Amino acid sequence: MTLSISPEQSGDTEYARTLRTLSEGAVNKHFDPYTDIDWDSPEFAIDPTDERWIMPEADPLGRHPWYKAQPIERQIEMGMWRQAGIAKVGLDFEQLLIRGLLQYIVRLPNGDPEFRFITHEAAEECNHTLMFQEMINRIGQQDVIGMGPIDRLLTMVIWPAVKYYPGFFFTMVLGGEEPIDHLQKSILRAGEGRLHPMVERVMQIHVAEEARHISFAHEWLQKNVPAMDLPNRFVLSLLFPATMRVMLSMIATPPKEFIEKFEIPDYVMREAYWGNEDSRKTARDIFADVRGLCEKAGMMNPVARQVWKLLGIDGPSSRYRSEPVRKAA
Ligand SMILES: [Fe+2]
Ligand SMILES: [Fe+2]
Repeated sequence: MTLSISPEQSGDTEYARTLRTLSEGAVNKHFDPYTDIDWDSPEFAIDPTDERWIMPEADPLGRHPWYKAQPIERQIEMGMWRQAGIAKVGLDFEQLLIRGLLQYIVRLPNGDPEFRFITHEAAEECNHTLMFQEMINRIGQQDVIGMGPIDRLLTMVIWPAVKYYPGFFFTMVLGGEEPIDHLQKSILRAGEGRLHPMVERVMQIHVAEEARHISFAHEWLQKNVPAMDLPNRFVLSLLFPATMRVMLSMIATPPKEFIEKFEIPDYVMREAYWGNEDSRKTARDIFADVRGLCEKAGMMNPVARQVWKLLGIDGPSSRYRSEPVRKAA
């Protein structure tokens, strides 16, 4: 794939206009982790008996009967570790993403509208890492870990992906962004008043800025995938659901350190992440938007459909982004 600018790309095409709108959005509505979050406000105080730390129903473990049967202090302790853990995985993912994005824009020619938006996005992701780390430090879970060794593995995949197969790079971007965003949105929607205000503020800011990033990854794939040659597009159509499934496990499933620390039985983990009907539905719902994208971008062929199904993340596609979940047809 060539990255040299074409006259239509720098001109007034729909893609260029969308990128300009997204870039202007980044100027008009953005947040600074140290001026927009009042970290020292009394209501942000950390209290280990505060029941607002109990894991929300939106987390498959949070609604599992085993978790609900634990003593309240244990539920709080697990909830604090889990919130810090989600932030840490988010932080690791953001750092990988920033590296990939900066590598991608190195090769853009002058005048390319992608330069401005991607630089805005990378700047926002830097702020997200500051915000997540500050929250982890304040929650005080020093032993919390993020992606661990997978992080190093992904670093090695990202460099060649950006250079030789950017379609796969942007697929990985969505594989990371969609699960975090979906979980945060459902926690926010359901958590009104019963979420710790620091977590709530951090999530609100993240969801607000993430909407632009996810839009951009969708736009990029929608523009570039249909222009790929057939073999490459076919390979991506299969890699796409596989990437979503692997990244769902990496991002939305607690690490083994959490399982060991809180002695969570195997059957509970199996059911919560993503074995019982209830959690399987969550996994399917997370990817409704990207299934819609695959339809539009020509990546939903009969073989790809089987892969989505085999991985348990098939289902109806959104007709537009962030459409509320529809019942399976
Ligand atoms: Fe982010
Ligand atoms: Fe993002």
